[in-house]
Amino acid sequence: MPHPELSVVLEKERELMNFYAPLYRKLPLFNSLNYQEGRKTFVRWVLGKLAADGRDPRQLKILEVGVSSGDVLELLAHAGCANLTGLDIAENMVDETRRRVPQARVIQGSIERHDFKGEQFDAVIATFTLHHMHQAQPFFDLVNRVLAPGGRFFIGEYNADGWANNPFSRPIVEALAAPGRRLFKIKNRKVLAAQGKLPLLFNPAHRLLRWQEIRSAIPNPDAYGIERETLGLFTLAYNFALVPSSRVDHAFYRVLCWIDGIVKPFRAGGYQCITGLRKR
Ligand SMILES: C[S@@+](CC[C@H](N)C(=O)[O-])C[C@H]1O[C@@H](n2cnc3c(N)ncnc32)[C@H](O)[C@@H]1O
Repeated sequence: MPHPELSVVLEKERELMNFYAPLYRKLPLFNSLNYQEGRKTFVRWVLGKLAADGRDPRQLKILEVGVSSGDVLELLAHAGCANLTGLDIAENMVDETRRRVPQARVIQGSIERHDFKGEQFDAVIATFTLHHMHQAQPFFDLVNRVLAPGGRFFIGEYNADGWANNPFSRPIVEALAAPGRRLFKIKNRKVLAAQGKLPLLFNPAHRLLRWQEIRSAIPNPDAYGIERETLGLFTLAYNFALVPSSRVDHAFYRVLCWIDGIVKPFRAGGYQCITGLRKR
């Protein structure tokens, strides 16, 4: 199938995300226990990396692209980061973020086309956004334009090669998780039913990305010190069975994290966290 045109993808993404915006924080599709905890882990990792560079994240100028309803910006604000900017193509998402993170500057625009007019940032973040894009390269073109030397980009994405995602191992992971999933779905049936269901709609370019695809989208990889790790194997397999309101589910989630930690060296996780330190 030919790759859809950029304008078609951007318009569809804007339309769909405007539709999802009022419910973004309530929908398990975007805000399951797994996603909520995953974002906290991601933000801890971002803050840890910046601190390890000898920088105080609270003093840094941080840009997040594809902010949606500001979940990641809000966690950064709670951690004391005061200079926050968000960008999103969907105006309803921009409104949500402005309401929830009033101290942040939030701009409506696309990663591909928004002109920051020479403005520089110390960190550029994209979580679960690259796989919604027409192509990944414009994210790195933006990073090349706006990231100051010594700054870092951070990406949180699905990992198409992860054992819970790729078509060969996925059935095995799902079969192993199935009995427990069933029990939690029975236990949580009332909460899950109350969450309701919306159709799963994506723009025509939406797809999970492999690490090689992301890496080859960086026009100048030598300009960055790049690191990558993966996480989330069984936590992903249990994604929509656990609910944030249950302490039992939180405790079980921690057990799943511990199991996922054992397979971490295999880079088997369903999510990939990628960072690049700008050398020049
Ligand atoms: C799945 S959401 C992820 C959001 C958020 N970072 C999170 O972790 O929940 C992707 C967001 O990126 C935005 N987006 C997708 N493509 C974009 C583009 N090319 N330029 C700007 N925003 C974009 C969408 O409107 C949507 O709000």
